[in-house]
Amino acid sequence: MVKVITYGTYDLLHYGHIKLLERAKALGDYLIVGVTADDYDKTRGKINVQQSLMERIEAVRATGLADKIIVEEYEGQKIDDIRRYDVDIFTVGSDWIGKFDYLNEYCKVVYLPRTEGISSSEVRSEQYKLRMGIVGRAAFRTKFVTESKYVNGVEVIGVCVPQKSVESEYGKMFFTENYEELLEKVDAVYIISKPERHYEDVKKALLKGKHVLCESPIALKESECEELYAFAKERGLVLMDAIKTAYSTAYERLVLLAKSGKIGKVVSVDAVCTSLRDGISIAGTDLTQKWNSMCGWAPIALLPVFQILGTDYNKKIITTKFLDKSVNMDAFTKIDFTYDDAVASIKVAKAAKSEGELIVTGTTGYIYVPAPWWKTDYFEVRYENPENNRRFFYQLDGEGIRYEIVSFSKQIENGRNMSVVSNKVSMNIVKIIEDFNSRTDVIEIGERNV
Ligand code: CTP
Repeated sequence: MVKVITYGTYDLLHYGHIKLLERAKALGDYLIVGVTADDYDKTRGKINVQQSLMERIEAVRATGLADKIIVEEYEGQKIDDIRRYDVDIFTVGSDWIGKFDYLNEYCKVVYLPRTEGISSSEVRSEQYKLRMGIVGRAAFRTKFVTESKYVNGVEVIGVCVPQKSVESEYGKMFFTENYEELLEKVDAVYIISKPERHYEDVKKALLKGKHVLCESPIALKESECEELYAFAKERGLVLMDAIKTAYSTAYERLVLLAKSGKIGKVVSVDAVCTSLRDGISIAGTDLTQKWNSMCGWAPIALLPVFQILGTDYNKKIITTKFLDKSVNMDAFTKIDFTYDDAVASIKVAKAAKSEGELIVTGTTGYIYVPAPWWKTDYFEVRYENPENNRRFFYQLDGEGIRYEIVSFSKQIENGRNMSVVSNKVSMNIVKIIEDFNSRTDVIEIGERNV
C-alpha cells in the first residue's frame, strides 16, 4: 500500500484545495492530511485564519478524500509523522517548490501544480472589507497602521488629526481635522485620543453606526462606560477595549494556567508597569498633552489582577505621588487590593522606573513573567523543587496589536462578542480611574518633582 501525506491550513476550503487533495490521493492508496493547528499557523505568520481548527478538519473530512486526518502542531513534525505512519510520498502544491526537499531523506517528495486563480487569502479578502479610521495621537497611529497591514480584510483609510502636517507618514490615506467627516467614510474607528475625549469620541461613532476599538479606559466614569456598552449592544455594534497585552499568546496562556490550579490557589497577583519614555519629568514638557501614569498604564497592570482574581475585591487603597496635581499628572501610583482570600497590587509610573515584572503567587508555586511582561513571549512556572519548573514560550508578533485587530474584525464579521477583555473587566478598569480622579480611596504622598 502506498501512503501519501499532505499538509495545509484549509481555511474556507476552496476548489484549489479539493483538486490538490484529489491529485494527492491519486498518487497512492492511502491519504493522510495534516491540518495546521491555530497556534502553529500564528507562528507561521498566518494570523487571520477565519475558521477554527475543528471547522477546517470537518471541511477536509467532508471531501471524503482523506483516509486519516492529523493535526500539525510543531516545527519538524513532518519528519515525525512520515516515520510514524510509514509514509511513502510527501506532497504539497507547487507554491512550496524546494521548501520540502529536505524530506527526500525520509520519503519521496512530489510538488503538484497549484490551481491558478484561487487562494484562501483571496476568498477571505473578497468576503469582507473593514474600512477603518483612526483618531488620536501620532506614536500609536503609526504602529497601528503598520500592524493593520498584516490583517487581510482590514484597511486603515483615514486619519483624524489636529493639523494636516503628517501626511507623508501614510501614503494614500486621507486626512481630516473633522471627526464627523472621518466617521462618514469608515465602518469602524480606532480611538487613541486623550482619555478625557474617549466618551464623546466613542459615543459619536456609535451614534453614526460605527464599530469602535478604543484604547482603555473607554471613558472616565463607570456610568458613562456602562452607557456606552449598553448603547453598542442595542445597535448591534462592537465596542472593544484596545489592550494589546490581552492578545499576547503567552499572557493568555499564563492566565489559563493560573486559573486551572497549576500553582495551587492563587493568593497574590503583583504587576508592575513603568516607563520613562514619555519624558513627563523633563522640564518644559507640556503635561496637558500627555496621558498620566494611571491612564497610560493602569488598564494594562489591572488586567491580570481582574482576569485572575475577578473584580469582586473587598477593599483597595490607591497611593499616589503627583508630579503636577493641577493637571492630574501622577508620577507614580500604587494600588493594593484585598479579596476574600487573596491580595493584589499594581505599581504604575511614568516618572519612576522599576522592574516591569508580573508575579502570580499560588499555594504550590508561582508564575514569573520577566520585564516587560506586557509584551512578553515567555514565562516560567516555578516550584519549591526547581526540577519541576517549566518554561513556556509563545511567539509574539507586533506586540499583540495585529491579533487585537484580527479579533476586532472577526467580532464585527461574526456578529458575536469574542472580546478577550470582558465588559466587566473594562468597566472595573474605568471605575479605578474614576476613583483615582475623584480621590476616592486615595492617599497622596509628598508632592514634589521626582
Ligand atoms: N493549494 C493549491 N492550489 C491553490 C491553493 C492551495 O494546490 N489554489 C494547495 C497548497 O499548495 C497546499 C494546500 O493546497 O498544498 C493547502 O494550502 P493552504 O495554504 O491551506 O491554502 P491557500 O489557499 O494557499 O491559503 P493562503 O491563501 O492562506 O496561503
